Amino acid sequence: MTITRKDFPPDFVWGSAISSYQTEGGWDADGKGKSIWDVFCATPGAVKDGDTGNIACDSYHRYKEDIHLLSELGVTAFRFSLCWPRILPNGVGEINQAGVDFYKSYMDELLRHGIKPWVTLYHWDLPQALEDKGGWQNPEIIDWFKEYCRVVHEQFGDYLHDIVLINEPSMVSFFGYGVGIHAPGIADKTSYLRSAHHVNRCIYEGYHTLKNLNPSYNVGSSFATPYIRNAHGDDDAAHIFNCLWNLNYQDPVMLGTYPEAFASEFATANPDTIHDPVKTPLDFVGLQYYGPIFCQRVEPTEMNFYGVWFTDGPESYQKNALGWSIDAEDLRRFILSFQSRYGQQTPLYITENGSPWDDAVSNGQVHDPERIAYFEDHLAILSDLTESVKGYFYWSFMDNFEWADGYHGRFGLVYVDFDSLERTPKDSFFWYKGFLAAP
Ligand code: BGC
Repeated sequence: MTITRKDFPPDFVWGSAISSYQTEGGWDADGKGKSIWDVFCATPGAVKDGDTGNIACDSYHRYKEDIHLLSELGVTAFRFSLCWPRILPNGVGEINQAGVDFYKSYMDELLRHGIKPWVTLYHWDLPQALEDKGGWQNPEIIDWFKEYCRVVHEQFGDYLHDIVLINEPSMVSFFGYGVGIHAPGIADKTSYLRSAHHVNRCIYEGYHTLKNLNPSYNVGSSFATPYIRNAHGDDDAAHIFNCLWNLNYQDPVMLGTYPEAFASEFATANPDTIHDPVKTPLDFVGLQYYGPIFCQRVEPTEMNFYGVWFTDGPESYQKNALGWSIDAEDLRRFILSFQSRYGQQTPLYITENGSPWDDAVSNGQVHDPERIAYFEDHLAILSDLTESVKGYFYWSFMDNFEWADGYHGRFGLVYVDFDSLERTPKDSFFWYKGFLAAP
């Protein structure tokens, strides 16, 4: 069965997504402060091939061309993130007017093309000035984040309606402060437990700050939502990995509690704030699903203190260009398990879903049949779940800087030549365009 737009309700939100550090470049342009990713990328060995987001897709200068392509694609919503240190170079205090003007022009351009901005406030580029004071480990981050929310409201309130507070708390805390694979590159158990709790607290405080300022905002937050599978039948190990990826952030925000396996550790690491509120009546939840993650027990090390880690999926699974397993049915399983744990009342949006392939331009075209098949398979699952799933944002609109993998891993609907910065829409771009345009 071929999936069509008619399999979805007319008001289903169709979009695509990117983030600031992964696409903007302009890392020191016009008064922008440094972010933790600027610093991390400059650390030898931190990112594959020493790649950096200094230029990335240069969308800071080429956003009009990008938005023109977006409008050709036919989406009506675009999820992008604000770079906090572009707006507040020191994280708090003085505002950088050039950064504010940039995002205003950006959103003017989107709106001029009939595309609604879905703005993510935090997609990992914390101002380095705040990291110098402890970053996500410091409970003061809650006040810093609230100030940032207020500034965003004051500067961009007229443009805003749909707001994603924080992109993937698991990656911010576990990858950034737990195992140190991402910026700021800290590998420490207490740092993980503190940063995770503070991210959860910021979702609560950010939500209420924004809703108090404008009750009509539609404020949600996005979670990494892999379906965790154990490779060797070790359910305890899989549960720990599921907590590190999913439950340590979803449980507090949705239920107000930490999973039993971690509750006492969170309390010990956060003695003064553990009873502060975290349960948040989000207006929507963003789910970001790429595929199942297989895990297995390993010897605990200083960098891997819980003794559970990734392992390759079985050979029977299709793998993408980064070796990740693919299984669209696990998206359904994830959504059903999420709803059985937290109920069905909160609208869900797929704020990221996509796959990297080894794309190449040939005669001005990029043939990416695997991406089209991935797209169709995942949309087919979602078409059965539209009572709760209200929108879909393909990740990514364009090839970009894939964090610790550098420029390996092309997720885009639009191919980017990272030397010439030329953009070439892939076959999947035209597939999505045709899907959206069909009556
Ligand atoms: C992140 C994106 C990233 C994507 C693919 C998500 O974890 O939000 O920034 O590019 O996954 O790895």
